[in-house]
Amino acid sequence: MDQCSLVIFGATGNLTRIKLIPALFSLEVEGRLPENLTIVAFARREWNNDRWIEEVAAMLAEKYPRGYDPVAFERFRARLHYAQGNFDDSQAYVRLSETLANYGLFSPNVVFYMAIPPADFGPAIEHLSAVGLLKQSTGWRRVVIEKPFGYDLLSAQALQQGISRHLSEKQIFRIDHYLGKGTVQNILVFRFANLLLEPLWNRDYVDHVQITHSEMRGLEGRAGYYEGAGALRDMLQSHLMQLLALVAMEPPAMMDAESLRDEKVKVLKSIRPITQNAVHAHAFRGQYSQGTVGGKAALGYLEEEGVDPGSTTETYAALKLYVDNWRWRGVPFYLRTGKRMAEASSAITIRFKEPPHHLFRNTHLERINPNWLLMGIQPNECLKMEIQVKVHGLEMRTRTISLDASYRSKDDKESDAYEELLLDTMKGDHSLFLRYDEVEWAWRVVDPILKVWSMERDFINTYAAGTWGPRGTYRLFDRDDQFWRHKLSLDGGDVGSEAY
Ligand code: BG6
Repeated sequence: MDQCSLVIFGATGNLTRIKLIPALFSLEVEGRLPENLTIVAFARREWNNDRWIEEVAAMLAEKYPRGYDPVAFERFRARLHYAQGNFDDSQAYVRLSETLANYGLFSPNVVFYMAIPPADFGPAIEHLSAVGLLKQSTGWRRVVIEKPFGYDLLSAQALQQGISRHLSEKQIFRIDHYLGKGTVQNILVFRFANLLLEPLWNRDYVDHVQITHSEMRGLEGRAGYYEGAGALRDMLQSHLMQLLALVAMEPPAMMDAESLRDEKVKVLKSIRPITQNAVHAHAFRGQYSQGTVGGKAALGYLEEEGVDPGSTTETYAALKLYVDNWRWRGVPFYLRTGKRMAEASSAITIRFKEPPHHLFRNTHLERINPNWLLMGIQPNECLKMEIQVKVHGLEMRTRTISLDASYRSKDDKESDAYEELLLDTMKGDHSLFLRYDEVEWAWRVVDPILKVWSMERDFINTYAAGTWGPRGTYRLFDRDDQFWRHKLSLDGGDVGSEAY
């Protein structure tokens, strides 16, 4: 890996505190960072290096309350620099470029990480370009852009147009941290390194696919961002749609970044457009009200600090999508996400169809449970398959058992998605980053829903914090025997709550 510098924009913000610094430190502990990597914080507060180092120590103390490796911290602190500047002040960029020009201290290869509000991505990149910091004359220059990339289709197009004046696609790393999660990468291995499932992976055998990301956490001080985003932009347009693409895509010609992204784009392009008239049949939104989460009383969304008391921003969103191609035509993909839900869990659950002929009709078997394939993303990474077996005894009775192909052991080190992705930006590997056309096609899917929801400002369904979401989402299902699958354990089978 080349030597490089990492400049973090928004270094005192939430993302840096919770994800970036802990991930970089963890890489430090493992000895994975480039030897001379310097980490430059570019932020508006009037701090100096020492103050920044104190701040980083506090971030790590918060992340690792039981303590962290002091020797690694000594190495880590030596990498830390603070560059004071307001990211809308052009003079600050002149100073930054002078600082970075000290090649004795900083490598000419630079990754700029935009951990700032989405509205600031474009202007920050323009400023960087104006002072020549994006020119690749002495070394490479890369920019990592957090999501959401744009606010809707039009703004994403405008943002892309703006930044492509200063950056080539090769310099841009649009991050979707979900792609760095273990199970998410395992989808490809599971699908394409095993022959077993491929013949079943299509409309002939799959009844439907569910993709869920539920959280118990609430806003955590992010009202400023979340009020303008909502669950559809925050989670669905990006992370969940990427999961859908990985589940539904064809095997790529090769495992390089472009082949992989070509196949994902094909899936996104094949999603049946939802017309504005069909939005209610395909999408459901909700907002949490007061309730109890994990045994503790929780505020309603409207009472959270920084939230407009009349807000109709959705904290829950569910969608039904169809992928109109040869493999998937007619198979519904149900996607849902929510904050302040009953459990924190992310999973892909795939239900298979019933056998074509019910051979056991005249026995004690009234109904046979369908096969499910379950891929747990978090908190537990797992892979399970539910099949039917006969119960021991004279009568013909069956029960469902779960074949557990989980691949993680308790002793495996926990690693955060950001670790791998940060390393990839330094290596220049785009495989786990989004190409512009992926982002644009994902916006095309959700755009009509955003439009309709933005016009319907008088009413939003609510759900008590700590539950599985608003009532009535069952109307998204194609048939009465389809329910949300909440759990990956056996009791979570077809007994999903009808109320939701
Ligand atoms: C982020 C969203 O992209 O993903 C957050 O902005 C969300 O609102 C988070 O909580 C979920 O990801 P993870 O990895 O923390 O479960």
